[in-house]
Order: sequence, then C-alpha cells, then structure tokens
Amino acid sequence: MDHTSQQIIPVEKIESSRINDVDFNNLIFGKEFTDYMFECDFKDGSWHNPIIKPFGPLTISPAAKVFHYGQAVFEGMKAYKDNNGKIWLFRPEDNFHRINKSSKRLAIPAFPKEIFFEGLETMLNLDSEWIKKGFGNSLYIRPFVIATQAGVAASPSDEFKFMILFSPAQEYYKGEVRVVIAEYYSRAANGGVGAAKAAGNYGAQFYPTNLAKEKGFQQVIWTDSNEHKYLEEAGTMNVFFRINDTLLTAPISDRILDGITRKSVIALAERDGVHTEVRKITVSELLEASKNGSLKEIFGAGTAAVISPVSAYSYKDQVFDLPKIETSYANRFKKELMEIQYNLVEDPFGWRYEVK
Ligand SMILES: Cc1ncc(COP(=O)(O)O)c(C=O)c1O
Repeated sequence: MDHTSQQIIPVEKIESSRINDVDFNNLIFGKEFTDYMFECDFKDGSWHNPIIKPFGPLTISPAAKVFHYGQAVFEGMKAYKDNNGKIWLFRPEDNFHRINKSSKRLAIPAFPKEIFFEGLETMLNLDSEWIKKGFGNSLYIRPFVIATQAGVAASPSDEFKFMILFSPAQEYYKGEVRVVIAEYYSRAANGGVGAAKAAGNYGAQFYPTNLAKEKGFQQVIWTDSNEHKYLEEAGTMNVFFRINDTLLTAPISDRILDGITRKSVIALAERDGVHTEVRKITVSELLEASKNGSLKEIFGAGTAAVISPVSAYSYKDQVFDLPKIETSYANRFKKELMEIQYNLVEDPFGWRYEVK
C-alpha cells in the first residue's frame, strides 16, 4: 500500500525513556503508556498545530464540554512487530473512517487523514522499542477526540483536541468468559449512538456489567432495546454463535458497532468455506440450540482480545454451559487472524499495512 506524506509533524523529544521502568512480562491491559503522545487542536473552524510530545498530563478548563456533556469519541487498534522488526497495522483505514463516522454522530468535526497517518506512523517509529516481537505482543493504539471549549451551555463545542496514546499489550487472556444475556438494561437504541464509539456508551455499561460481575459473570451480551429478543453484541466485542457447523452473527445496525475483527472473521470464514449467516438471532433460538445440543460455541471478536471464547451464559437466572470443543472456530479464526497480523502468512485480503 502506498502511503507517502508531505507534511512534517514537529516532535518535542523526551529527555529519557521510561521503558526500563516497565515490566513487559506482566503487563496489565491499558495501564502503561509509551514515551510519546500525539495532539492536534481544532479551533476557528480547522485542525491546527499537530505535535508529538512526551506523554504527560493536559491542562484543560474544568468547564470543557467533554466533562459536562460527554462529547467524546475514541478508537482502538493495534500495531505488531514481525520477526524481522518491521511494524504492521491491521486495517488502519477502517479505524480512521470509523472515528470520523463516530465524530459525525457526536457533532465533532472530521479529522484529516494525512495528519492521522503521519502522526500515527511518526509516533510508532519514535516508540518502536515499546513494540515487542513475539506472537501475542502488541501495542494498543488509542486515538480519541474530546470537546475542549469551556462553557456549560448544552450546545456543541467549537473547540476539540484529537489525541493518540499507545499502551504496550501482551496476549490478553481473560480466562473463561461467562456472560449474562441482557433482559432489562440496554446498551443502545434505534437512532441512538450504539454504532459510534462514543465514550458514553461505555460508561453506561459499567453499572449493568457490575451487576453481572456480582453474579460471577464477566460480560453482558446486549439484546435489542425494544423487546430484548435479539442477540446483539458484548461490551467491547461483537458476538458469534456456532450452531452445528454454521457460524452466525448479528447484522450491523445503528445499535451495533461495525467491528473490524467481526468483518475479518466473516471474510476468513467465507474463504475457509465455513457456512456463515449474518442475520438476526433470537434468544429463544439460542436456548433451543442449547437444549438440543446444536449450540457448539459462542465467542466474542474485538481488537483487544482478538477472539474470546465464552464458556457459559445465563438467561433468566438459568446457566447454560458451552461444550468444550477440540477444533473450535474460535481458536481457528484467532490463529488465522493473528498470523496475518504478525506477518507470518500471506495476506490475500490486503489487510496488513506496513509502517515505514
Ligand atoms: C461495542 C463494541 N463492539 C465491538 C467491538 C469490536 O470492534 P473491533 O473489532 O473493531 O475492535 C468494539 C471494540 O472496538 C466495541 O467497543
């Protein structure tokens, strides 16, 4: 993929790296940050002064609209280092388009593509030591936009800050994921912001997810807000079901995030000749499949954990265990995806993007 750029983003250099303070063998997801951060401000109708500087605190007015009205969106993506030390991104244009789609829904101006890619790639080269080689090691990338205009009038901000942070990550073992199927609370509604990566979508899930945790479950599988009849997605993952040998997942709607891992799994399944159906899936269909033994797997798909197999789900306080499968789709698609991400196999889809 050709991705040359003209603009040069200034870099304020660190005095010394913090990398030796970090224990790369015991990383907690999202806790440590690299030496640099990217910042660019929107003012007077355009984005100005992109800069890469040492990671550190911001000074923002306590009246900034992000604090009062949650006008904020974000993205989640990863960089990988192959055995030769080359850095790769996975479908980064999709993340770029998605943050601007999220921004539009939150009345935030679109960010320019050239500045995004130049900022991201320059910073990846500066923080390159933080990306460790080895299957499962990665650098989690968190672009985000916040409304910075000071003022508590409930109207859209006319000033914003676009930032990118990096956090080193290891393979994300969640252990067994047990999920609750939502019967009362909702994550998203028709016409709402579910399809956007709006900060408030996540804050609003913490309380019902805590209720699930109190009962020994880790996540909620959200259902449609009208009837709680259709299975939609999990907190930060799209969800797949395997009934007999058919792979099922819900269609994208304005309640569901158009996950990049989700569409990659669908493409791999189609390539591999796995019968795949993208259609509405009812809770009653799932219960029936559990009872007659045709439900083989449930797994979540998302950037952070790649694929997370579900070991049990609960519905109306009844718990249904998933069988232990030797040749699971979850393991198969996780391996196939990661081999492409780590440049271990050919990439017939053109998903891999080399950072120069
Ligand atoms: C609500 C939600 N669904 C699904 C996903 C998975 O999306 P992706 O595969 O692009 O990471 C995420 C994570 O980004 C998410 O936050």
